[in-house]
Amino acid sequence: MSVAGKARKITTNTLQEMKDAGEKITMLTAYDFSLAKLVDHGGVDVILVGDSASNVMAGNETTVPITLDQMIYHAQCVVRAVDRALIVVDMPFGSYQGNSKLALESAIRIMKESGGHSVKLEGGAEIVDSVKRILTAGIPVMGHLGLTPQSIYKFGTYTVRAREEEEAEKLIADAKMLEEAGCFALVLEKIPAGLATKVSQAISIPTIGIGAGAGVDGQVLVLHDMLGITMDFSPRFLRRYLNLSEQIEGAVSEYVDDVRSGEFPNESEQY
Ligand code: KIV
Repeated sequence: MSVAGKARKITTNTLQEMKDAGEKITMLTAYDFSLAKLVDHGGVDVILVGDSASNVMAGNETTVPITLDQMIYHAQCVVRAVDRALIVVDMPFGSYQGNSKLALESAIRIMKESGGHSVKLEGGAEIVDSVKRILTAGIPVMGHLGLTPQSIYKFGTYTVRAREEEEAEKLIADAKMLEEAGCFALVLEKIPAGLATKVSQAISIPTIGIGAGAGVDGQVLVLHDMLGITMDFSPRFLRRYLNLSEQIEGAVSEYVDDVRSGEFPNESEQY
C-alpha cells in the first residue's frame, strides 16, 4: 500500500516519506468548515488555509489586507472539519517580516488559537531568521518561493518569476537555505518548470508547485479556482474540474423563478 494510503492522519513525516517513495503530494486550499470537510473526505493530503482567503472570501484585490485574527478565524473553521489532512496556515502580511520575535508570537497565536498543524511564510533569505525562531518553538514551517503574492507592490505584477538567471540562482540558494533552516516543505509558485524540477532535485524536503510544472513533489491549487467558483482568474496553469459558478447561478435563478411563480414550496414541502 502507498505511504498516503496507509496514513490515518497526514503529518510532516508522511510528506517526507511520500517524497522519498516518489509519491505525489496533493494540496488544496480551504477557508471554511463545509468545504474543508468535503476536501478532507476527497482524500487530499494537505489543506492550506491560504491568505488567498483575502481574495476569494473577502473580495480584496490582494492578499495584503487580511489580518492575523482573520486567518485564525478561517483556520479554526477548517480545523473543526478535518480528520485526516495536514493543516497548514498562512502567516499574513505584517505578521512575520523583519521581526523574528513578532513572527514567533504570531505563529504561536495561530497554533494555540486555531489548532492548525503548521504555518507557511513567503520569502527566502529575508525571512529566514523568522523561520528559525518559529522552529525553536516546535512549530513546523512550510516555505514559499517564486511568486510571493504578499510582495505584489514590490514586483508590480503576478507574472512568472525567476525566468532570468540571477533570480533563478537566488531562488535555488533560498530553497537550500530554507531546507537547512528546518522547513518541512516548500511551495514553488509560478516559476519555469525546468527550474522547479532543478530545485526539487537539489533539496531533500518536498516541493509543492502551483504553476511550476510536473517535476515537483506535489501540486496545490486554490479550491475556488479549480471548482470554477471564481471565473475572473484564468492563468494557464489552472485546470478547472467543475464549473460551479454556472451551476450555482442556475440553481439560484431556478429558485427565484419557482418562488415567484408559486411553484415552491409544493404540498410535500410544507407542514
Ligand atoms: O494563499 C494561497 O492560496 C497560497 C497558494 C497559492 C499556494 O499561498
